[in-house]
Amino acid sequence: MAGGFFISKTVGIVAIVLGLGAVATIIALSVVYAQEKNKGTSDVGTNPSAGPSITTTTTTTPAPNNPWNRWRLPTALKPEFYEVSLQPFLKPDANNMYIFKGNSSVVFVCEKATDLILIHSNKLNYTMQGSFHATLQAEGGGTAPAISRTWLETPTQYLVVQLKSPLQEGQRYRLSSSFTGELADDLAGFYRSEYTDESGNKQVVATTQMQAADARKAFPCFDEPAMKANFTVTLIHPSDYKAISNMPEKQMINGESWNVTEFHTTPRMSTYLLAFIVSQFSYKQSNSEGTQIRIWGRPKAIREGQGDYALRVTGPILSFFEGHYDTAYPLPKSDQVGLPDFNAGAMENWGLVTYRENSLLFDAAYSSIGNKERVVTVIAHELAHQWFGNLVTLRWWNDLWLNEGFASYVEYLGAHSAEPSWNIKDLMVLNELHAVMATDALASSHPLSFREEEINTPAQISEVFDSIAYSKGASVLRMLSSFLSEEIFKKGLQSYLHTFSYNNTVYADLWVHLQEAVRKNNVTLPDTISNIMDRWTLQMGFPVVTVDTRSGTINQTHFLLDPTSSVDRPSVFNYTWIIPITWMTGSSHGNSTYWLTKVTDTRNEFKLSSPSWLLLNLDVTGYFRVNYNRENWEQLLNQLSTNHMVFPVINRAQIIDDAFNLARAKYINVTLALDTTQFLSQEREYMPWQAALSNLQYFQQMFDRSEVFGAMSRYMKKQVTPLFDHYKNITKNWTNVLNDSLMVQYNEINAISTACSYGVTECQELATNYLRRWQNSSENPMVATGGEDAWDFLWKKFQEASVVSEADKLRTALSCSPHPWILNRYLQYTLDPTKIRKQDATSTINSIASNVVGQPLAWDFIRGNWRTLFSQYGGGSFSFSRLILSVTQRFSSEFELQELEQFKKDNQDIGFGSGTRALEQALERTRANINWVKENRATVLAWFEGQTK
Ligand SMILES: *[C@@H]1O[C@H](CO)[C@@H](O)[C@H](O)[C@H]1NC(C)=O
Ligand SMILES: *[C@@H]1O[C@H](CO)[C@@H](O)[C@H](O)[C@H]1NC(C)=O
Ligand SMILES: *[C@@H]1O[C@H](CO)[C@@H](O)[C@H](O)[C@H]1NC(C)=O
Ligand SMILES: *[C@@H]1O[C@H](CO)[C@@H](O)[C@H](O)[C@H]1NC(C)=O
Ligand SMILES: *[C@@H]1O[C@H](CO)[C@@H](O)[C@H](O)[C@H]1NC(C)=O
Repeated sequence: MAGGFFISKTVGIVAIVLGLGAVATIIALSVVYAQEKNKGTSDVGTNPSAGPSITTTTTTTPAPNNPWNRWRLPTALKPEFYEVSLQPFLKPDANNMYIFKGNSSVVFVCEKATDLILIHSNKLNYTMQGSFHATLQAEGGGTAPAISRTWLETPTQYLVVQLKSPLQEGQRYRLSSSFTGELADDLAGFYRSEYTDESGNKQVVATTQMQAADARKAFPCFDEPAMKANFTVTLIHPSDYKAISNMPEKQMINGESWNVTEFHTTPRMSTYLLAFIVSQFSYKQSNSEGTQIRIWGRPKAIREGQGDYALRVTGPILSFFEGHYDTAYPLPKSDQVGLPDFNAGAMENWGLVTYRENSLLFDAAYSSIGNKERVVTVIAHELAHQWFGNLVTLRWWNDLWLNEGFASYVEYLGAHSAEPSWNIKDLMVLNELHAVMATDALASSHPLSFREEEINTPAQISEVFDSIAYSKGASVLRMLSSFLSEEIFKKGLQSYLHTFSYNNTVYADLWVHLQEAVRKNNVTLPDTISNIMDRWTLQMGFPVVTVDTRSGTINQTHFLLDPTSSVDRPSVFNYTWIIPITWMTGSSHGNSTYWLTKVTDTRNEFKLSSPSWLLLNLDVTGYFRVNYNRENWEQLLNQLSTNHMVFPVINRAQIIDDAFNLARAKYINVTLALDTTQFLSQEREYMPWQAALSNLQYFQQMFDRSEVFGAMSRYMKKQVTPLFDHYKNITKNWTNVLNDSLMVQYNEINAISTACSYGVTECQELATNYLRRWQNSSENPMVATGGEDAWDFLWKKFQEASVVSEADKLRTALSCSPHPWILNRYLQYTLDPTKIRKQDATSTINSIASNVVGQPLAWDFIRGNWRTLFSQYGGGSFSFSRLILSVTQRFSSEFELQELEQFKKDNQDIGFGSGTRALEQALERTRANINWVKENRATVLAWFEGQTK
């Protein structure tokens, strides 16, 4: 039972056993796998949803009559530096509340005379200085105007200081205050996280999550990304706790029970990138070219070596980015911390990156290669931001897509530099491009770019952290880099970073520097970068390119998943794009890029005389779908069935994904899409299999409560058996652990989970055996009935698990039970933070909902507890929209549509917060599902039956 993959496989397989009896409905391992791949957000996103435009929420936007009723700061004052001193109390006070005390002052320069100071402040209680919340002094001698009145403007989160006479232009002033705040367990601002240490005692960690607008919850500040300043941070902490922040320690003053740690002054930076942590964590360290690297976590985890993998890859990734950006790492040290409670996946705080434990810590004995992939990609994502985002920062949240899209693109390059044998760059097509196209093909999608004035409130800011920003942003930048060539892209990027270090930009600034690189290197493009890219960033969606190989005509149209949906959002480009197209044919490999710049064109190279095929969009570097005339589709299918290896592996995945989506949108017949899965009986590669499985998952969701599912299961069983046997051979009857590449292991998971789910008996026996052996190896043997005792066994394992990735898999496996009462009990546990951590509550509900038995229960649970859920997670929680989307994913009947509409009506008064767009999207999707099932049911049934006659 040695080796990491074995254990993780065991855990996954156990999920299948738990579901035995309802086996056909369980896709446990793929659920486990899918869940592993889910990134939590803030910085690394849960990729929740896209949807209609960000609506100006009238309920929370006060009439903008006075400056303090507006969400954006006036520009008259510019902060230069802050001195912030904070003292977190890690034991509850007399009222059983955890609090922190703080003192801070900010020096700002007055750029335009004004008698009003607005500074952000949220949920802080001030110690009054006389009758005022703060004091004001002039810097460098002189006197400051007297204060006439101060107050807290709670709705817009300001401390307002009204002066008797104006501040003078060009003069510097210092505003100082003392305050207390609650060190709540709300995962925002300065908050507390808890864990149980090895002696069974509760330990408290004080930590921060400032992005997007919560630095103001830790101290009063000009809390907008363009208000960069230098910060000198001091932390006062119990003498047996360590304090860390963005910069290295400057000095420590030792006291009897409290020590004072002062940190070096930061470079100019944005408030949302600040971080302070007071903990009893330990660390391992190394040095990379003079930069100190430390990986922090719970002492036990660090001692067991769970930080070692992160430590090993951080140095190489930092060096990679230094080269890629042609800029030295901007800070003297890099700390990375795994936290037991963390809302996002990870956060790129400058010099002090914070993570969910499962995104930083890795245990070779318990974690799978999927966990490893997650760790290395998340680290690469966060480290990419240390320059792009932190050193150079977008001026406002409307341009978030460039920040997150860029990091989501280069994380693959950074991860590749650390794990060069994995081919991880290919995975972008599945994980980002195919994934986001599903959302971006909806009429309710939105453009990447927002106008600055569209994004104001904290809820609107939270809402821009969606899959469009992350994954479409990444896909479009990959396309840009590919048509420019990576070398030219890098040159423009480097010049952009050199120009704007310690400063702010808008996205168009990057285009200017790329254009300059294009000019210097004589690259020929059909138009300016700005004109080409505007088509992709200012209008939502993407094109489907259709070629007719009989005539050589090629044209483009806006691809909509539901062709009957109406697009209300106008586009100045009329939904046409400037499209870079690469191609190959049966006899030649086109090696230039053809640009489709109009709606229709005719090209000789796309006209085939002899029977052959044409394939567009090599390696899917372009962000678009491709359709062909029937003859060409047949030629492609022919080639797939005779020798599929002729096509690049990414394109084999593309043919499947494009075909299924074209069928959804009624460009082609559903049978043609299903035909693209026939060659899979010969396919051994991960990407095509994964593309097929994720598309067929839709068929499963639509039909797993109907007779179609029987025929589908027989077909799936037939297709997957050769793959299952292949892995059985190469693992010598499941005794060898595969240490091959990433994707070989991923496809092993696909082989087993698909085989077990669709009734390959040998697989189910294998799974049952694993559970028996596992139970026997623990002290508490029992029969694997898949019933209550098995569930309780796993629940116990879950509670004991000290490796978070193991706990995560168990938490998912527990949702695979076929017993409603067990699932209902489990749903109740999500409201009890002593059973399921708050950070994991929504993802637990999501996995229960993905079980066919659990789905209606989860829906009842959400309807019944909406008020509670909303008050706990509604405001800024990024995973909230995913909750709505996953619980409704099977909805495909009129009755379910009515329930959903009723739900919307019933809860208007409470609202949907960051799930607002998701709800609209769920409605749109349900309507589309209803039509789809109506139209395709009979055909699909006949096709599946025909395949297994
Ligand atoms: C702040 O003041 C309010 C109102 O008096 C009180 O309810 C809250 O507990 C105080 N918070 C802290 C951290 O002292
Ligand atoms: C705090 O100060 C004491 C001396 O008073 C010292 O022994 C201890 O190491 C300091 N704490 C930390 C976390 O460095
Ligand atoms: C503030 O940051 C800048 C870099 O942006 C740095 O050059 C300067 O020295 C810093 N100021 C202080 C007082 O440290
Ligand atoms: C930041 O950029 C602006 C506009 O490009 C420029 O005017 C300003 O001088 C820059 N500031 C710093 C500190 O580099
Ligand atoms: C670009 O073209 C100019 C003029 O034709 C030439 O002098 C220059 O060397 C070329 N630059 C590159 C990088 O090819």
